[in-house]
Amino acid sequence: MARSALLNVMVQAAMKAGRSLSRDFGEVQNLQVSLKGPADFVSQADRKAEDIVFAELSRARPGYGFLMEERGVVAGDDDQHRWIVDPLDGTTNFLHGLPIFAVSIALERQGQVVAGVIYNPAMDELYTAERGGGAFMNDRRLRVAARSKLSDTVIGTGMPHLGLGHHGNYLVELRNVMGEVAGIRRLGSASLDLAYVAAGRLDGFWEDPLSPWDIAAGMLLIREAGGFVSDRHGEQGMFDNRSIVAGNETIHRALLKTLKKPVAGR
Ligand code: IPD
Ligand code: CA
Ligand code: CA
Ligand code: CA
Repeated sequence: MARSALLNVMVQAAMKAGRSLSRDFGEVQNLQVSLKGPADFVSQADRKAEDIVFAELSRARPGYGFLMEERGVVAGDDDQHRWIVDPLDGTTNFLHGLPIFAVSIALERQGQVVAGVIYNPAMDELYTAERGGGAFMNDRRLRVAARSKLSDTVIGTGMPHLGLGHHGNYLVELRNVMGEVAGIRRLGSASLDLAYVAAGRLDGFWEDPLSPWDIAAGMLLIREAGGFVSDRHGEQGMFDNRSIVAGNETIHRALLKTLKKPVAGR
């Protein structure tokens, strides 16, 4: 499959960072780990991977700005372009030896995400999408799942930990969704959750809160795979109010409705 020059740059950065993560994953017990906040871990592996992505992208496209999980905002001379990077999405999995983690890189042009790459080095799965050009896993074109009955679906989610941070009432939402679907999964890497929706492995997904670096690349993958993405209000405020709901058109709509129910059904 011929990739654009832009995607090649992003793929090279993601795969190089992925190789660094794979090496560190092999000796995870020796890594230095610190806490950024309650249950919010960061390790040498996150920082090394971020350094690699930063160096690769800065060399290939000098002047573009960055929004990165560990470095935060790095302003560039070019105010039209910004990379949005999560160098290790799934740190908690990684530190527990669970091979569900990824590098996620997106490019925003004039405030719109135009390209996204997500790489899971443990499975050597590379997800790519460019606006208007479709979504791919390795060389295979992706399409969201076609299931239209919520009762047939497997839905991914992210759960609050230490009781922190959720904008809604998570247990009510969970109970409502549980009552209507065939299964729920909590994989621990939001970028991969979204890539799996694009690939039809999950029928839908919701989480709140998430940061732009968790979702920027995955949102584009889902749209390019024919799916729908919004915030919990059905609007396009995913970066600002930090919630996300995704699926094919029918499942997306059904999930939004279920999440709005005030009390759990039986
Ligand atoms: C986390 C993962 C996780 C989600 C958390 C994120 P990190 O990202 O995506 O699935 O539930 O909200 O913060 O910190 O491992 O990059
Ligand atoms: Ca983190
Ligand atoms: Ca993340
Ligand atoms: Ca991260």
